[in-house]
Amino acid sequence: MPAATTQSTKREAFGSRNVFILSAIGSAVGLGNIWRFPYVAYEGGGGAFLIPYLCALLTAGIPLLFFDYAIGHRFRGSSPLAFRRMHRAAEPLGWWQVLICVVIATYYAVIIAWAAMYTWFSAQITWGAGNENDFFFKDFLQMGDVSKGGVSMQFVPQVGFPLIAVWVVVIVIMGLGVKRGIGRANTVLMPLLTVMFVALVVQSLFLPGAVDGLNAFFTPNWEALADPAVWASAYGHIFFSLSVAFGIMVTYSSYLKRKTDLTGSGLVVAFANSGFEILAGIGVFAALGFMAQAQGTDVAHTATAGIGLAFVAFPTIVSNAAGGSIIGVLFFGALVFAGVTSLISVLEVVVAALQDKLGWGRVRTTLVVSIPIALISIAMFSTTTALAVLDTTDAFVNAFGIMAVALVAVIVVAWLLHRLPALRDHLNRRSSFKVGWFWMLLVGALAPIVLGYLFVSEVIAKVSEPYGGFPGWFLSIFGWGMVIALVVLAILLSLLPWSHRSHAKDDPDYDEFLVGESYAPDAETGTVRVSDAVAEGARS
Ligand code: ALA
Repeated sequence: MPAATTQSTKREAFGSRNVFILSAIGSAVGLGNIWRFPYVAYEGGGGAFLIPYLCALLTAGIPLLFFDYAIGHRFRGSSPLAFRRMHRAAEPLGWWQVLICVVIATYYAVIIAWAAMYTWFSAQITWGAGNENDFFFKDFLQMGDVSKGGVSMQFVPQVGFPLIAVWVVVIVIMGLGVKRGIGRANTVLMPLLTVMFVALVVQSLFLPGAVDGLNAFFTPNWEALADPAVWASAYGHIFFSLSVAFGIMVTYSSYLKRKTDLTGSGLVVAFANSGFEILAGIGVFAALGFMAQAQGTDVAHTATAGIGLAFVAFPTIVSNAAGGSIIGVLFFGALVFAGVTSLISVLEVVVAALQDKLGWGRVRTTLVVSIPIALISIAMFSTTTALAVLDTTDAFVNAFGIMAVALVAVIVVAWLLHRLPALRDHLNRRSSFKVGWFWMLLVGALAPIVLGYLFVSEVIAKVSEPYGGFPGWFLSIFGWGMVIALVVLAILLSLLPWSHRSHAKDDPDYDEFLVGESYAPDAETGTVRVSDAVAEGARS
């Protein structure tokens, strides 16, 4: 048998359940936790935001995390393969998730590159005290004003070169594979990240004015709870933050051994992610309290939008606090580590999908997938128009990519394919925490209602007012055009034939995996499986 054929039947796996948990936490804890959550929480009513946040976590985040785990583990494949094994017609859902990851990977990498440069800048306060805002937007990003026709694709070297370095590091990790690359990177980076982050939070708490920041963060604004937009932002945030609904957890759980406690692992991941997030809120707001005191203003005036919060507010703190350089190195270093462990998970969705479809080896697929994505990322995001493209792409891919695919997936799986009872049984087979009718109700009924509402309100919001004040042609390309293209491309990719070497049709490993499980043959996929009876017979 040729080597390639043998290779295609052996699916990679994480070294142990703990490495999987660490990697899943590594994926979840990312840029979203460190700069996005504190700002979203503050804007959504401070302490009172924790109520919609916890509701979103318990009613949508965790149930859909289990949903992803069940699909990836039960059907043992990358997103397209797992959905295809569930039902041939469901394959486009998997490709939709893959393409969402392609888009996210392109801009996620550049934020890591900025953070890497800012780790270096922090050590010597390169921006010069008082010049933090101009330094970031004008000197560092050399940003053009799109709404005034300032579109130019001029290369910005101080962004471009670190971005190339980020891609080289990430491609090396990916090429080493699941166990030696992703597993090891998380085993090293996650403990480091935790230590750095705890040190950062403790240091922030001792800054003068920290208490004011914490008061601003934790003092509930109960009125905010009556605002549907606050609930929408809580639900919107939880998907991105937990890495749910865009294929990551489907792919990662496909690398787990058969006898794995799925729900127990999911609870550890979800609570670790939220713990990190709340810790990030405490650290960031303690630092903002200091900044407000130093500037003689209140915290409300220092808490700005996501990108500004990290790359303008933190440098200001670094310039003014005693030991500021250490705070800066810890903060931006943590952002780099958290970003890298998330970026590799985003990219793994794409690599695994192509590996499954084409039956290629790891290194070849990694190079063929990652180099074009890296080139697009470098071409788009190391230019003077990067910030506007990033802002638009991120907003649209979250609203009409992640949330839309989550909505369609729960409707298809629960209502068209009626697969929730089978997925529930799969989760319960080995898990310590059993799920039942309540889980099915949350996934099959509450999630479609909430996601449907969010989707419609997002469409209305983005149609009625041009996003970010950007011109129509710009939004048509990087916003609406991009999200529509993802759906069309997903359908086209699902129509391409699976390689004869791929896992889709005949996968002895998959059959082996199901031995002893009480599954009926998958009539829809046309795949003949080892039925229980045969499996029992074979064993006796
Ligand atoms: N879950 C990752 C984050 O929070 C993508 O950034």
